[in-house]
Amino acid sequence: MCGIFGYVGDKDVCKVLYQGLKSLEYRGYDSAGIAVIGDSLSFVKDAGTVDQVLSSIKLPSKRAGIAHTRWATHGKPNQINSHPHFDENMKVGVTHNGIIENYKELKKDLMAKGHTFKSQTDTEVIPHLIEDYLKLGNFEAFKKAVSMIKGSYAIVAIIDGSEKIYFARKFSPLVLGANDEYFVASDVTAFLRWTNQAIFIEDGEVGYIQSKKYYIEKGGVEVKRKPTTIEWSFEEAAKDGFDHFMLKEIFEQPTTIRNTLVSKKLEEFANHLNTLDKLVLTSAGTSYHAANAFKYASNIPIDVIVASEFTSLYRGGEILAISQSGETADTMTAVRYAKSLGSKVDALVNVVGSTLTRIADKTIYTHAGPEIGVAASKTFTAQLAALYAVDAHMKGNPLPQIDVKPGLLHSKEIKKLATKLSGAKSMFYIGRGPNYVSAMEGALKIKEISYIHAEGYQGGELKHGPLALIEKGVPVVAICPSDKYREKMIGNIEEVKTRDAYIIGIGQEDDNELKSLSDTFFGMPKTDYPTVTYAVPLQLLAYHTAVIMGRNPDKPRNLAKSVTVE
Ligand code: F6R
Repeated sequence: MCGIFGYVGDKDVCKVLYQGLKSLEYRGYDSAGIAVIGDSLSFVKDAGTVDQVLSSIKLPSKRAGIAHTRWATHGKPNQINSHPHFDENMKVGVTHNGIIENYKELKKDLMAKGHTFKSQTDTEVIPHLIEDYLKLGNFEAFKKAVSMIKGSYAIVAIIDGSEKIYFARKFSPLVLGANDEYFVASDVTAFLRWTNQAIFIEDGEVGYIQSKKYYIEKGGVEVKRKPTTIEWSFEEAAKDGFDHFMLKEIFEQPTTIRNTLVSKKLEEFANHLNTLDKLVLTSAGTSYHAANAFKYASNIPIDVIVASEFTSLYRGGEILAISQSGETADTMTAVRYAKSLGSKVDALVNVVGSTLTRIADKTIYTHAGPEIGVAASKTFTAQLAALYAVDAHMKGNPLPQIDVKPGLLHSKEIKKLATKLSGAKSMFYIGRGPNYVSAMEGALKIKEISYIHAEGYQGGELKHGPLALIEKGVPVVAICPSDKYREKMIGNIEEVKTRDAYIIGIGQEDDNELKSLSDTFFGMPKTDYPTVTYAVPLQLLAYHTAVIMGRNPDKPRNLAKSVTVE
């Protein structure tokens, strides 16, 4: 996820771009840049925050420019990889949000035609492609380039000698701001201080803004669309109208999982793992749960060591460290220890260019975008998606088909249940096989943001101690898809039911037996990946319970997003 912004009008272009970009910084904050149309195209860009890179710049601009705040996906955060990107003749400047899946093929073709590239980004193919077709005319060249791109994108482009800003959208958000002058941005926060009149661009649409005019078309036919009045405050708009970043991030999961699954690097990495006879996974918190899910799925022998215990338990073997931030001190200590013993270290990380990626021998990425809420949500399911994709490649199976939308549809009913849970002193989450991982993650989520004590247990372990704690009304979340563990799980659920626990069953929608055992039941479609799809109702349960109890789920007490102390 990145923030893109463009402006055409009479105001000081650099100042408008800087102010708008500041409002988009929550979408990415590892590098920033702007390019403006003057006598020629000029630009400033670098690694760093919007303030570090752009607060005091002045460029010779004539009424139009584009800007970008980056969250790296291809290529480290540095000056060259920052946006905007240009063709070698400085005719076309482009900023882009999304992932171009066929950029390697496009780059090869363009290089064969004599184009030279500077960066490691997928985006850089776009200005070269547009430049290659400029003889068709600016807008036709832009459309031709867009038609050749596969993947997800919101693109804005400027072309030397024109005062138009061209745009295109597919799967990445883009909206125009309209009053007497025009804006184009990843979201309305960028221009809300100047106008609340927004025209939302739909997938497959292309167009341009210019002084006092905008034009949109789809499939060669002009689209007329009236502006919508935005009633949101600036704060609400940054959260896309959601009450908290965590809820917004939960709802982003259909996109973040898709973006992660299509990464080409996963297959390469799977081929590498197939050459090993053992792998040791290390990570912390939610990332540790993702590691455990991989252990259940994989055919190769895997040890999972929680990062804070690594130096006591590690006995050798190649490492895969999993971390959203790539900065967690426990994980870094584990990795440095393994390196000091001469072991190879691989990493699965969300933050490009983070410390872990610099130490690792090989890095693969989740493509979940920045996660602002302290509790991991979309980055957990992205880790699972990446690991299941690696597993599928290792076994020669097709890529996982994962649909998390059904879980999102339960949000309203879950909110009702949350009112009931808000009085609970303690809760249990139970599951068997990989669903035990879901139990651990569900329990972690509710304890960290609602502060209700919760434990995740293997269904079979209850009778070895914790059953003593089950009494009338204690909430037990039973994660019980219709898989090979179901029958035994039903037995475990009966054990707690007999002790009058309050059963919250999550299982396959046609499982009438589970439904009748449950006090509240959430039905899910049949799935081969319940750890991913069932994560969503568990996240929503934690979220709604926290909110009803008056907690701020985005900033739980005593916790930080990046834990840089051991
Ligand atoms: C829980 C949570 C933490 C992190 C843990 C590791 O919601 O966010 O448990 O998962 O601190 O962080 P990373 O993945 O950044 O290494």
